Amino acid sequence: MNSETPMSSDLFKQSMRLLAGGVCIVATSDNGEWHGLTMTAVCSLTIDPPSLIACVNRGAGTRGIISVTRRVSVNILSDDHAGLAERFGSPALRGPDRFDSHDWTELASGVPALVDALAVLDCEVIRETELGQHSVFFFEVKNSRLQPDRKPLVHFNREFCAVQPV
Ligand SMILES: Cc1cc2nc3c(=O)[nH]c(=O)nc-3n(C[C@H](O)[C@H](O)[C@H](O)COP(=O)(O)O)c2cc1C
Repeated sequence: MNSETPMSSDLFKQSMRLLAGGVCIVATSDNGEWHGLTMTAVCSLTIDPPSLIACVNRGAGTRGIISVTRRVSVNILSDDHAGLAERFGSPALRGPDRFDSHDWTELASGVPALVDALAVLDCEVIRETELGQHSVFFFEVKNSRLQPDRKPLVHFNREFCAVQPV
């Protein structure tokens, strides 16, 4: 292993690229208009209440919408969803246009749900705080829909990968 190097923003980015992460689309409905973005910074927090944290860049347009609607779906992507992850991570497409390529439905709470997601978690925003460039949202999970026979999509070192048992 190399010797320790003092932290810089480039080194921090390089370091975090080595942390493989599951890929989600966090989506919401603003008076019936759907919005969503691709995220890896989603993490389980507590079992009681069932909760998650999600860190959204303050430059993301969806951030302010989630702050207002306070209800989101966390759609955990499968290994055949790399194109979808790119679509929801691209500034070239915005808001409702991102939803055109795949089948989405609406949960009873009104949030969009990806029909063939590995899992869909229906969440309420219970807290929001800010650190640096990011808003940290605390979500309480109210309902979930699982398709555990599907395989997850993983993001590692700027590439989408599939998981293989070792
Ligand atoms: C694999 C991947 C993971 C991402 N993870 C995050 C994340 O955790 N938080 C975040 O704010 N943006 C993340 N992004 C970037 C947003 O998806 C991207 O900036 C998006 O265009 C924001 O859309 P919006 O401005 O319409 O909200 C990620 C993008 C990709 C492709």
